[in-house]
Amino acid sequence: MCGIVGYTGPRDAGPVLLDGLRRLEYRGYDSAGIALVTESGDLFVEKRAGKVAVLQEALGGDPPRAGIGLGHTRWATHGRPSDLNAHPHSDCTGRITVVHNGIVENFRELRDELVERGHKLTSETDTEVVAHLVEDAYEGDLADAVRAALRRLEGAYALVVLHRDEPDRLVGARLNAPLIVGIGDGESLLASDPAAIVAYTKRVIFLADGDVADLRPGTAIVTDRNGTVLDRPVDIIPWSAEAAEKGGYPHFMLKEIHEQPEALTACMTGRLRGESVCLEELDPIRARLHAIERVELIACGTAYYASLVGAALFEDWLGVPARATVASEFRYSPPPVDARTLVVAVTQSGETADTIAAARLAGERGGLVIAVTNTVGSAITRESHASVFLQAGPEVAVAATKTFVTQVATLIMLAADVSRELGKRTLQEEAVLVDALRRLPKQAERAIELAESTPDVAARYADAAGFMYIGRAFGYPAALEGALKIKEISYLHAEGYAAGELKHGPISLLEPSCPLVAVATRSSVYEKLISNLMEGKARDARVLAIATEGDTQIERLATDVLWVPDAPEALATILAVIPLQLFAYHVAVARGRDVDQPRNLAKSVTVE
Ligand code: AGP
Repeated sequence: MCGIVGYTGPRDAGPVLLDGLRRLEYRGYDSAGIALVTESGDLFVEKRAGKVAVLQEALGGDPPRAGIGLGHTRWATHGRPSDLNAHPHSDCTGRITVVHNGIVENFRELRDELVERGHKLTSETDTEVVAHLVEDAYEGDLADAVRAALRRLEGAYALVVLHRDEPDRLVGARLNAPLIVGIGDGESLLASDPAAIVAYTKRVIFLADGDVADLRPGTAIVTDRNGTVLDRPVDIIPWSAEAAEKGGYPHFMLKEIHEQPEALTACMTGRLRGESVCLEELDPIRARLHAIERVELIACGTAYYASLVGAALFEDWLGVPARATVASEFRYSPPPVDARTLVVAVTQSGETADTIAAARLAGERGGLVIAVTNTVGSAITRESHASVFLQAGPEVAVAATKTFVTQVATLIMLAADVSRELGKRTLQEEAVLVDALRRLPKQAERAIELAESTPDVAARYADAAGFMYIGRAFGYPAALEGALKIKEISYLHAEGYAAGELKHGPISLLEPSCPLVAVATRSSVYEKLISNLMEGKARDARVLAIATEGDTQIERLATDVLWVPDAPEALATILAVIPLQLFAYHVAVARGRDVDQPRNLAKSVTVE
């Protein structure tokens, strides 16, 4: 997965592209490059292995002045990270240049065919074939040539193409990878994500799969791959440019942790009505909900841990079997799915390849698919009968934080709405839940305040060789998510375990260098959890507990405690995860890690 950006208009394109690439680095950052048509009409290309800062350095200040260009930040799939494999890629004539996010699955056949016809391909990438296919098809109209090339491609792509001889025109296309068009005042842009262009325009077109966008300054014509003009709506991005900035925090992750109270408020805005939860997005499918006999949640990573909470609630409130399955398992070993199955696909980006494939499969088998995503216009929304948005604003740090808590909150609201629709819960039960949800943003704020001591606590644990996280019931997904956070950003090994499993194996890992992190918030299984905590303590492990304010017992038992406010169990995961996020953040900072762009990771995994 990669980030791409393109610009045509009166501004100096180079700085616009570099700015966009910096905002897209969360999508990949093993190499970066730009191409510009300079004022003298030359095609200028600079590309380097490494982050955008390396490219900037190679440019030695400002790139040549230009009114059009495209840029790319890469996360390697085909071809190792290197200057040569960095995008943009050009054709034999050096006039056509391409940036690409995705995978051209039939690139080997295309490459052989092109070489046989005398083309010179120099990189190891799948992308380079696109430049040469456009070269072959070019007869004076770039959009026509791109459409012809696209008809030869299999796989996934978001592409931007530029021809030196049409120096105000950019052509973009998407299939199974994100791409948006921005229409400004006398200028047009293309990007993987609104964050890259929101500083220049808020008017965007979310391209659909198969769309080709033909851009000139201030205009965009969208067609299909055969050239039929399509009517695509222009949406207004509600985010300010500042929302995509760090807002004074040293890292996006810390900023996004602090944004959680606000994100929770936004997430619930318009959805808590009086004493009920109402998700308007479900209105078109309400009749179909009445046939539901089973619920399957599908997701990856953090979204999967959020889905565990959703599964527990659907099962409890709806009284039907419900489970969460990792999407990469679901897609190859699917359970029976038919019109009686509600399938909830949870994905922050809406572009995760496995989740999309699993949702598509479920839809093909007749399941009723609901997407829970943060990204309007993302691919998952096209695989679903209804989409419920997190409304959390952009999340830039690779490690998900505010999208985890808003995923959990959204799943709680979804389970509540569906169970009311099916007459499975009393109005009074719903009123109690709504009251608790209304208090949640303030409680999240309180959880952040209570975690003030986290930097000091983290400093004491930063020398650990690894961690064992445990939890029970709604504390278990929090433990899993806490362990994932520390793995992702501190590069320390961590296990997340159902606390009752500790003595069935992992307890042998416990020793002073492997502390136990116990989610020990107030719950129906609190005493059981305390027994597990004591098992760890007896093995000389240091114990960091996440506990409910006012718990006087825990201070005597744990080495350190991070406190959270009291909340009903269904909401406890959201509050318990906040100190765990901050703990992971401060351990990573103490260890000098690159918190926002941890090694080997990318924000959204758009390839399998
Ligand atoms: C979370 O910190 C990770 N970056 C990762 O596990 C992520 O949650 C996963 O890749 C799923 O992404 P999605 O929500 O965009 O589908």
